[in-house]
Amino acid sequence: MRRNFELLVAESPVDFADVAAREFIKLVEESGSPLVTLPTGLTPQGFYQSLVINHAHRRDCWGKLRFMALDEYCGLPAHDERLFSSWLARAVLDPLHIKIRFLFESASDPEQGVAHMQVVLQEQGPLDIAVLGLGGNGHVAFNEPGSAFSSSAHVVNLMPETIRANARYWGGEDRVPPLGMTLGLHDLSLARHTILLVTGTAKADILKQALCGQVTTAVPASYLQTIDNVMIIADPQAAAGL
Ligand code: PGA
Repeated sequence: MRRNFELLVAESPVDFADVAAREFIKLVEESGSPLVTLPTGLTPQGFYQSLVINHAHRRDCWGKLRFMALDEYCGLPAHDERLFSSWLARAVLDPLHIKIRFLFESASDPEQGVAHMQVVLQEQGPLDIAVLGLGGNGHVAFNEPGSAFSSSAHVVNLMPETIRANARYWGGEDRVPPLGMTLGLHDLSLARHTILLVTGTAKADILKQALCGQVTTAVPASYLQTIDNVMIIADPQAAAGL
């Protein structure tokens, strides 16, 4: 078992949100004008609320932060409210007045969309701070099981379990776009700092596999064992197996 990560266990949802906000801001302060990627999903919602409620006044942090999209659905018009970028704009980017944003162009040809992001990464990268969620199947961003550790931004066929998990936002599985775009595991592995946010009993086993099991593309998040400066912020249920 490799334990090259720092683990913070938060006892309550409020604590989880506040600890995540505090640790994130510490890294932003250290970095000056950091290139940052942020996750969508249920897990980070309290974290974003804590940033907005408790730290919106920190204009010194937010004005220089360069946001880079982590993943996105393909084929939606710009500003569609179901885009991950729209979700993040509502949850955190607009309330904090984060203006510098590098986004996947969903409406364009998917290969063009990821090629654009590869160029942006070459010009702006590497990431300074990657905040990530963990999928029930071990995915990070849209890097599904089997994704190469060497991958840069790429187009993804979403797996049935990911489509099922996201169906709640689309009003049914058949409405979820089957294709996504994502930063690759190689892009994420170059991040100077990584914060993984994980909550709930349902994630305990996959979190243990990711951090303490074999490093394998079958569990994309296991790449975290191969990099430095990884912080896991979890609740007691998710951390139970560690
Ligand atoms: P969740 O999603 O925070 O809604 O559990 C995590 C993910 O699938 O990456």
